[in-house]
Amino acid sequence: MNMNIVGLAVGALVIGGVGVTFLKSEEPTNRSVDGHSTPKGQAFAPKDIKLPAFNLTEKRGEAAYTENCAACHGERTVGTDQGPPFLHRVYVPGHHGDAAFYSAAKIGVRQHHWQFGNMPPLPDISDGTMKSIIAYIRGIQSVNGFE
Ligand code: HEC
Repeated sequence: MNMNIVGLAVGALVIGGVGVTFLKSEEPTNRSVDGHSTPKGQAFAPKDIKLPAFNLTEKRGEAAYTENCAACHGERTVGTDQGPPFLHRVYVPGHHGDAAFYSAAKIGVRQHHWQFGNMPPLPDISDGTMKSIIAYIRGIQSVNGFE
């Protein structure tokens, strides 16, 4: 048998295996954080999440996020048992651009990535407020490695 081909095949298997393990490790886990159970996606405790030095817009976004989004998407975007974390590769800008955020507030989101149910529309939130909420979320994503 041609040893070069065998070598290549073994190499491909090793690289493939590492790739799969890496992808798997990015999935949200069901591990319990701070003693409360996090059944559907929360992989981090809020205290473990780094915060950037917020500018004024992001500060406004933080307040609006806390009022309108945190009940489901969690403090510092870690997720809850009512909604997914934004600290996940599904929600980095290349996967869910800012338009997906405006749309989520305007018309809601039909369950498709997870099993939390639908996100209801939040039509009272203005585009200006959404802009600051998005800035806040992107800021947190960015300093925590979700870009
Ligand atoms: C009542 C709970 C709830 C609230 C409040 C809520 N969300 Fe959601 N949101 C969800 C759920 C559940 C999903 C996941 C749906 C799925 O993909 O299965 C979701 C998904 C999303 C998505 C992904 C949309 C897509 O295209 O897949 C965005 C963006 C989003 N929410 C933004 C927000 C923002 C911003 C706020 C606050 C202004 C907010 N959500 C408030 C429950 C909520």
